[in-house]
Amino acid sequence: MSKIQRPHDIVSGPMSSLEPLIERLNTFSADNYWDLGKFLAEKVIPAALEKGIFAEQILKRMAEMPGFKFPFSLLKQCQRYYSYYPDVETRPLPELFYYELATKVEDSKKRDHYEKMAVANKWTISDLQKRIREDEQARREDEKTSYGFDRKEKNIWSFDTSDPRFGKPAAKGRLPGQIVANALFYYTQPGWTIVDPMAGSGTTGDVIESVSCFEDRKCRMYDIEPSDDRIKRSNILQTGIPEETGSVDYVFLDPPHDFYPRGLEPGYSAAAAQSDTMRKLKAILRESVRIIKPGGRVSIIVEVTSGPSVFIDSPFEVTLLARELGVVQIGKVYLPRRSDSTRQFSSTHDAKSLLSECRELLTFEKRTPQAAQN
Ligand SMILES: C[S@@+](CC[C@H](N)C(=O)[O-])C[C@H]1O[C@@H](n2cnc3c(N)ncnc32)[C@H](O)[C@@H]1O
Repeated sequence: MSKIQRPHDIVSGPMSSLEPLIERLNTFSADNYWDLGKFLAEKVIPAALEKGIFAEQILKRMAEMPGFKFPFSLLKQCQRYYSYYPDVETRPLPELFYYELATKVEDSKKRDHYEKMAVANKWTISDLQKRIREDEQARREDEKTSYGFDRKEKNIWSFDTSDPRFGKPAAKGRLPGQIVANALFYYTQPGWTIVDPMAGSGTTGDVIESVSCFEDRKCRMYDIEPSDDRIKRSNILQTGIPEETGSVDYVFLDPPHDFYPRGLEPGYSAAAAQSDTMRKLKAILRESVRIIKPGGRVSIIVEVTSGPSVFIDSPFEVTLLARELGVVQIGKVYLPRRSDSTRQFSSTHDAKSLLSECRELLTFEKRTPQAAQN
């Protein structure tokens, strides 16, 4: 074994008297976790404490010594293993089970529960590992749904089924309400007034009404064809959004699918389609920016239009538009379509052009006058 080299300050500092213990520790076999833990707990840590060095510090310092063979994480695990199971030899399961429990399960009651289950059901070590993994996954899921919806932590929001509480089941173009819930979670604040100018089946209103963490948000909805009494009739392309300038905190825009022609229509002109799409997107975005307060936000769902004779990078174009309108982008989330998506393009679809199966949720903020000056 190569001799451990100690940095100068350690040789001459309080650790110098721990030298023989550290040398001895380095002779342990890497798979003898319990003995290693016992030696740490009974010899190394008490000796270090006498010198005024805490347990965590001594483990870290040893792990940093050139030639010392155990990493800090392993030392910590061994220390934990011995301190939880000093009586491992008298316990009913093989030692490896207890190492697994000590290093993966913090709560002592849970460890006892797993031990009983493993004995009663004659688990193998893989059974125990699988069960701990599954329980941890379930715990994380519960944590997410404790918000009242399936909260996403990363910027890809994919939902194979729509939460039945949000929107009307058979409504055309209905968005999985979990997308709205996540948008409200990340981009709005308590007390905010939210407007959905193309509300469809009322998904936004349903999320605000049924998820308790949004109950203090106020919601107003509009649509050219209202699907219930909460939604006011309005053609926002003709009359604008019927809200005062600078009166709203957040606008959620989910434009209809026909904003994005794919070149499959008779007499289709790609250039005309592009300018039509951009005209509509510009109109609704300009209106949304008009009605939000400084500090307010707009989220818009956009997608790339690609067909046999057209390609419009709407997310990019909308980002440019937003810049022109003086709002700053603060978010970009990918919204893959459901894996069982029934959209059919096959009869007219050109085999050499890719279809878009991912929308984007772009979010912009109207800066306050102070922020704009900085
Ligand atoms: C994609 S859907 C919205 C779906 C909604 N987010 C939901 O989950 O039910 C788009 C909606 O825009 C509405 N719409 C289309 N053109 C409009 C216009 N000019 N003014 C207002 N609403 C319009 C449509 O009637 C449709 O309900």
